[in-house]
Amino acid sequence: MLPAELIGFKQRGKSITVLTAWDSLSSAMVEEAGADVVLVGDSLAMVILGHATTLPVTLDQMLHHTQAVGRGFKNPINKQPLVVCDLPFLSYQCGEDKAVAAAGSLLKNSCAAAVKIEGAEPEVLSVIERLVRMGIPVMGHLGLTPQSVHKIGYRRQAEDKVSQERMFSQGLQLEEAGCFSLVIEHVPAAAASHLRERLEIPVIGIGAGKDCDGQVRVTADLLGFSTKQPPFSQALIPGHQLCVEALQNWVHEQRLEGGNPTK
Ligand code: KIV
Repeated sequence: MLPAELIGFKQRGKSITVLTAWDSLSSAMVEEAGADVVLVGDSLAMVILGHATTLPVTLDQMLHHTQAVGRGFKNPINKQPLVVCDLPFLSYQCGEDKAVAAAGSLLKNSCAAAVKIEGAEPEVLSVIERLVRMGIPVMGHLGLTPQSVHKIGYRRQAEDKVSQERMFSQGLQLEEAGCFSLVIEHVPAAAASHLRERLEIPVIGIGAGKDCDGQVRVTADLLGFSTKQPPFSQALIPGHQLCVEALQNWVHEQRLEGGNPTK
């Protein structure tokens, strides 16, 4: 599926499902679950690599994990989910040339067909316009943008009228710059719903209520593996606990059997 085809989902009223993956094991599960889009999010810095924020993850690490994601798919290429990879911190903030090189290397050397970029500052909009002109599709990201944690924290965004108006105009600017879709994170449901109505491109929410054109979740959060569960993403199963119990049982059984040479 081409990134631009996601607009057709919105036009037909079909909800878009986006799940993150970070390696071949997780991408195999997410593909089998039927997600439309796989996001190799820079949340892997926190969820998988154990960092306190998303800032430390490097472009090389994003590439390494996106390549592993591609190796996990089982379907023929035309049936695989669309893969979007986050451009990590400092890979697009230091100018257009650097951003094109970073995004281009992801598309050239992995299964990614698009990149995701946070924010809508004038410099970011110029980068997006340039990438789109160069044939690199871009997904935008507004609301809680974790790469700006030292400026905005992890608080819910767009709480008041002024910041909501700013978010609406940034959404329109991202659409004009050529984004094929927009992630909107941790904002009031009514604001996300309003933004969705104003944009032609799909608005994909996380912690933004149900009235979006699609939903994105961090797979490790849904499976109950994350040590820091965000307040807006409930685990579907207590994955960590289930795995620990299964492994404890195995360890226990091995100890019992190991002491008995007849087994
Ligand atoms: O990095 C990530 O996983 C993300 C999602 C939370 C949208 O950006």
